[in-house]
Amino acid sequence: MRMYDLIGKKKRGGALSREELHFMVSGFVEGSIPDYQMSAMLMAICFKGMAEEETVNLTLEMEYSGDRMDLSAIPGVKVDKHSTGGVGDKTTLVLAPIVAACGGRVAKMSGRGLGHTGGTLDKLESIPGLTTSLSGEDFFRVVRECGLAVVGQTGNMVPADKKLYALRDVTATIDCVPLIASSIMSKKLAAGSDAILLDVKTGSGAFMKTPEAARTLAEQMVRIGRAAGRRTEAFITNMDIPLGHAIGNALEVREAVEVLHGRGPEDLTEVCLTLASRMLVLGGCAEEENARARAEEAVRSGQALRKLAEMVHAQGGDEQYIFEPERLTVSPVRHEVCADADGYIACMDTEGIGIASMLLGAGRSRKEDTLDYGAGIILRRKRGQFVRTGEVLAELYTSEEGRLAAAEKEFRASLTLSEKEPEPEPLIYGTVRGSEGESA
Ligand code: URA
Repeated sequence: MRMYDLIGKKKRGGALSREELHFMVSGFVEGSIPDYQMSAMLMAICFKGMAEEETVNLTLEMEYSGDRMDLSAIPGVKVDKHSTGGVGDKTTLVLAPIVAACGGRVAKMSGRGLGHTGGTLDKLESIPGLTTSLSGEDFFRVVRECGLAVVGQTGNMVPADKKLYALRDVTATIDCVPLIASSIMSKKLAAGSDAILLDVKTGSGAFMKTPEAARTLAEQMVRIGRAAGRRTEAFITNMDIPLGHAIGNALEVREAVEVLHGRGPEDLTEVCLTLASRMLVLGGCAEEENARARAEEAVRSGQALRKLAEMVHAQGGDEQYIFEPERLTVSPVRHEVCADADGYIACMDTEGIGIASMLLGAGRSRKEDTLDYGAGIILRRKRGQFVRTGEVLAELYTSEEGRLAAAEKEFRASLTLSEKEPEPEPLIYGTVRGSEGESA
């Protein structure tokens, strides 16, 4: 078999067989297929697309390209959640403890933030002492004892995705649905959970800018998960506005804890309860009719909050920060951004707001950047609200005064004021649950 012929086949719109995909992925990982040939293949896939079965087979080849997590030693159904990334998205910190409090098992591998999007590992590491680097044995022990653990990827998992993603990043081949779907799902499948709930974001702060594009991606990922024998479903949720009010690591932990106290922002609380309820159904912990009530009760009773504290303690952190989140350090330089005109906030460019937070030190523009855990933004006004000149729109926090000017400029450029009240947008656009006849 020759890579040259496979590129030609794809260029003419052909579908690659499992055997051909195996040759391509394993050859690329071991280095016998060079970057220039793989680049040509990726671009041909962007133009010609992939058949359904072909996308599933590519994902499976990627999943099996390195180590895989075997969670069978943990009793019960393990449920995972994946968000395609956004701004202010701290849902994992809320819903994983809710699910664990209701008897579910969440053995979660999360990522770090890059660019305008945040990452769960960074948020958790803003809690003093907490580590997200656990040995396999400790990871299993924490999940068995607490019902949840959140760690970074260990070992040599899905090396095919690492190499392919790096190449896609420099060859303008990121925004291709079968490549995104296989990249995300290969990692989710290798992480070993029995059930996967996908939160596909749409809007100005998301990868998929329209609900239609998000649905296409969600459908492909659900099909892949089910074909691989995992219970997989997706929600399509709004990322045209940041979720909640807090953006930045410690600020987001504080807000997540507020939700677990039952006094968090409405939009964040609603998304968390909706996703957590569905995870309970997927994990076999509740029926569709009572899942929401169980999730709400886990918050009301304080059980979910205690679960988060247990996990923080088990991962080496000081759990008192969960009971007294105001002790989490916020960066010392505080600056208010005030409205310079009257009007409705008609539009928030969420990606721009994420970039403003990154400029304050809360995120990374390059992988090797260090973080200012207490930096970020508290939004005091959001889309749809009317503001008067001089009213505070947001508070910016940073440790370096020199960062304020660029961040404020970016933040201001992200808001559009209008005389006209904008139409409200849904928080949740829809669900994808797979269809009859599919496996899982
Ligand atoms: N996230 C991923 O993990 N992969 C993609 O291709 C896009 C987003």
